[in-house]
Amino acid sequence: MNEVICQLYDRTSLRAFSRREIPPEDKNTILEAACMAPTAGNQQLYTILDITDPTLKDRLSETCDHQPFIAQAKLVLIFLADFQKWYDIFTEAGCRPRKPGYGDFLLAVDDALIAAQNAVTAAESLGLGSCYIGDVMENYEVHRDMLHLPQYVFPAAMVVFGYPKEGLTRKKPARVAQKHIVHENTYRRMDGAELREMMARRSEPKGFEGWVEAFYNRKYNSDFSREMSRSAAAFLEQYAK
Ligand SMILES: Cc1cc2nc3c(=O)[nH]c(=O)nc-3n(C[C@H](O)[C@H](O)[C@H](O)COP(=O)(O)O)c2cc1C
Repeated sequence: MNEVICQLYDRTSLRAFSRREIPPEDKNTILEAACMAPTAGNQQLYTILDITDPTLKDRLSETCDHQPFIAQAKLVLIFLADFQKWYDIFTEAGCRPRKPGYGDFLLAVDDALIAAQNAVTAAESLGLGSCYIGDVMENYEVHRDMLHLPQYVFPAAMVVFGYPKEGLTRKKPARVAQKHIVHENTYRRMDGAELREMMARRSEPKGFEGWVEAFYNRKYNSDFSREMSRSAAAFLEQYAK
């Protein structure tokens, strides 16, 4: 296996950072790598917020579901799905653009996430760990005001970076078998037996029902998950206006 593949296989999320600062040239490399990502029509439908203000970091560590390690990270980047700038470019050029639609929004989200993953991969190659923070999609109104987001801009993802805390060992959580993820040609809805087989390893020793119920309550049925859906709906409502 080559080095790139090894790093992709081995990468795990990092949530405990050492105090070591990231050299400015490495930070610049990470940001450049993000900007080199594939992008729909070469439009770069994203803006990256480099959060350097410690007060903002502290506030984000609270507004993003109370995750204190966000404030300890040495680099905090928010990847904004940004259709605003193209709307403004079209307007500036006298195009009288139609209102951006949901397709434009989804394309911008695609772009933002692909750029984010380029940053993650670049950071990994430089010895830096990272963790996505999906909770930045919560509290839309708070984040809009805090980060001055205009109508067609949505925080698709936040990623926090740093060097691993000394002595930390990290085990990558196992993924399900590839045969359940890769379907040939058309979608194959999995039946109960296959769903159970797919989750068998993860649900030990609790068993399928016990493990799924606990997971359901911790994630899908949680306050943060409900808030994320409310928040995204609030964004989309004002986007569609
Ligand atoms: C879109 C997305 C959102 C995530 N949000 C969070 C988060 O808010 N807090 C957190 O600690 N980890 C978060 N993670 C990290 C996942 O929990 C992690 O990737 C997953 O458990 C698999 O572990 P691994 O990255 O170590 O392989 C997120 C990951 C993704 C891709």
